[in-house]
Amino acid sequence: MTTSKHRAQTGRARYAASRRSRRAPLEFYPTPPEATRALLSVEAFVGPIWESACGDGAISRELIKAGYDVTSTDLVGRGFGEGGLDFLRSEKPLAKHIITNPPYGTHGLGDAFVRRALIHARKTGGTVAMLLNLRSLANPDRHAKFVKTPPAAIYFLDELTCWPEGKPTTKTARIARQQYYWAVWKPGHKGTPRCWWLSTRDFK
Ligand SMILES: C[S@@+](CC[C@H](N)C(=O)[O-])C[C@H]1O[C@@H](n2cnc3c(N)ncnc32)[C@H](O)[C@@H]1O
Repeated sequence: MTTSKHRAQTGRARYAASRRSRRAPLEFYPTPPEATRALLSVEAFVGPIWESACGDGAISRELIKAGYDVTSTDLVGRGFGEGGLDFLRSEKPLAKHIITNPPYGTHGLGDAFVRRALIHARKTGGTVAMLLNLRSLANPDRHAKFVKTPPAAIYFLDELTCWPEGKPTTKTARIARQQYYWAVWKPGHKGTPRCWWLSTRDFK
């Protein structure tokens, strides 16, 4: 069943579940600008970019400032880009490259985002850059996926907090302990990823 009524029910169920689990509704954890600036210090993208879970435009704004042509969409409207587009059900890529900090969720939502982005990138020949939780790098459920489709580059960020709804809070100290990396998949890449360290302080 893939009717709009079903999609609305699924969206409401996810919203209710995220409230119960004390996660931000719909996984809205905006990305501080230094994370995107750090990525752009080591990667360049030729052609347009799709920020496919754009939130309030935190990543898109930095990409636009850097001169990129960016299409921004999100499952819900947050006053930036186009709301109402479920990336996981998207069939046509809206731009060559995809860059986002996806929703992580508790049941493989982040993995589903990566999977869908790589499907699109195979069609466009583009790059996929995802801001991910460092813990996701070493996980038995992902071992085979990483080995089969390794990112071309992994960039470790030393200090970054993506606060729920962009609001620093003491209630979710877990978030402040979380650490992040950029995973960058490029078409045709095989073998060992390039790994490097980026200090967010340099980009504040
Ligand atoms: C971690 S936040 C990051 C927002 C933005 N990418 C940023 O970096 O600031 C994840 C975003 O994913 C959006 N989202 C959740 N599920 C989605 C889906 N299925 N399709 C598109 N966007 C989704 C949420 O609304 C939220 O804005």
